[in-house]
Amino acid sequence: MIKTLERISTSDPLSDEKQRAAIDQILEENKDLPGATMVVLNRLQEAIGFISPAMQVYVADKLGEPVSRVHGVVSFYSFFTTTPRGKHTIKFCVGTACYVGGINQITEKGKQILGIEPGETTEDGLITLELCRCVGACSQAPVIVVDEEVQGRVKPNRFPKVIQDIKTQEE
Ligand code: FES
Repeated sequence: MIKTLERISTSDPLSDEKQRAAIDQILEENKDLPGATMVVLNRLQEAIGFISPAMQVYVADKLGEPVSRVHGVVSFYSFFTTTPRGKHTIKFCVGTACYVGGINQITEKGKQILGIEPGETTEDGLITLELCRCVGACSQAPVIVVDEEVQGRVKPNRFPKVIQDIKTQEE
C-alpha cells in the first residue's frame, strides 16, 4: 500500500492535503455500513468529482476489499468517472428514440470536432463528452444535454454551434 501511494501522481486528489482529508473522512464515516464500497464510491464521486485509479486502490485497502472489486464497480456504473470532468458536459442520449433518430451521426460529429471519445475530456478541461440513457424527451429525438439543458432535434451540422456557444460563454 505504501508503495502504491508513493507512486501516485502529484495531481491525484490523494496528493492534495485537503482532498485527502475529505477522502479519509468519507471512508471513516461509511466504512462500517453494509454495502460500504458502493456508499463510499458514491460519496467520493460527489465530493471529489471522479475516482482516480490511485483512489480505487486506496479505497480497496481501507475497506479490506480486493482492488479488482472496487475497480469492477467503478467501471460498471456509468455515473462513476475516473478522470475529472470538464467544465461543461455534452451528453448524447442513446435511448431507443434517439438512436433511431440518428444520435450516432451527432456523436460522430462531436468526436470529430473535439478529437475525443465519449467518456473523455478535451485537453483544456473545457468539455467532456458522455453517453446517457433516455432523458424523457423522446418526442424531440435526437437529444443532447448540454450541462443541464436538453436540446432536441439536433442535426449534425448544428453541432459546431453547440460547441461555439459553450466557448462564447467562457469569453
Ligand atoms: S430516447 Fe432520447 S430522450 Fe428518450
